[in-house]
Amino acid sequence: MSLLNLLKKKFFKTLFTTPSHSQKFFLLSKFRQFYKYDISETDTHNPQVALKSAEEKASKIYQTKKTHFLTNGSTSGIITAVLTCVKRNDKVLIWKDAHICHQNAVKLAGAEPIFYETNYDESFGISKPADINYLESLLQKYKPKALIITSPTYEGFVSDIKALKQICEKTNTYLIVDEAHGALYPFSEKLPQSSVNIADFVVQSLHKTAGGLNPTALLHNNTDLNSEKALEMINTTSPSYPLLASIEKNINYLNSSKGRKKINELIQNILNLKNNCPNIEFCNNDDITKIVIKVKGISGFELSEKLYDEFNIEDEKTNEKSTMLLTGIGTDKQKLNRLEQSLKKL
Ligand SMILES: Cc1ncc(COP(=O)(O)O)c(C=O)c1O
Repeated sequence: MSLLNLLKKKFFKTLFTTPSHSQKFFLLSKFRQFYKYDISETDTHNPQVALKSAEEKASKIYQTKKTHFLTNGSTSGIITAVLTCVKRNDKVLIWKDAHICHQNAVKLAGAEPIFYETNYDESFGISKPADINYLESLLQKYKPKALIITSPTYEGFVSDIKALKQICEKTNTYLIVDEAHGALYPFSEKLPQSSVNIADFVVQSLHKTAGGLNPTALLHNNTDLNSEKALEMINTTSPSYPLLASIEKNINYLNSSKGRKKINELIQNILNLKNNCPNIEFCNNDDITKIVIKVKGISGFELSEKLYDEFNIEDEKTNEKSTMLLTGIGTDKQKLNRLEQSLKKL
């Protein structure tokens, strides 16, 4: 039985267990349904079995060895991956400007971080992937236990994960990919190739681009190492089953023909927007869903301010040169039309 159906089932025992709101006492009426399905593991309803089965089904969809549902974001996935494959005093190669969870993960493992640089796109003021030969030279020099790569970057550039996996194998280095912003990739051939079944560990935030609730995410483990142990160390023993059920539903939707169609519609709508705005310079990144733009004569910060003040549009990230607008499965045609009409007026 799916997690969601299990949560919907009527139970006839009177539970003197946590959570003591008893699925009926709700302090926020808007969240009534959420309280209703907020249960713990008990003898009467043990959702752990349904969760395991949902994770196994997900693993089949992604063609991974193991897929874990996370309710504490990609942050917890990166920490779990590092704690799983790295020991005290091991070296870990990490990007100097990576999300802070990379450094924290290495710190928690008692390992030594070795920082690497990435390339830089002067024109748009954004980071691009690191050079493979440079990374290989660092792998040969330091023989680190793990290499963590952010792919895609925030602005939608991806690394050649197959090539990276090959060079990591030469030094017995585990490859961990932070694909937090690439959760749609496995479900469209028009998006970059996902690393879910190529790298040793891959994390994806469902909540960033794939329609998930904050902070739902996935950890894919393609090694024979036991990632459950590390997960137990950092996870609560009272997981949110409504959030876990939403992950199951989310993956099934992305994998359905409806979900795939929706992603392709999003891509087509962005292509149309790009064609209809010749006054805008679009960054030629790998992931079209990250709209990185420049307007002649004004800085990225001025552009961001203009969009905000004059058109009520808030961007995801801005720098001196450019501005990035993030889209995802919930970005419909209407929303993109609003953006297009505003961009045309700049
Ligand atoms: C590249 C990258 N990795 C990891 C994270 C952490 O993800 P989460 O918010 O799902 O914990 C973020 C969040 O912004 C991110 O941008």
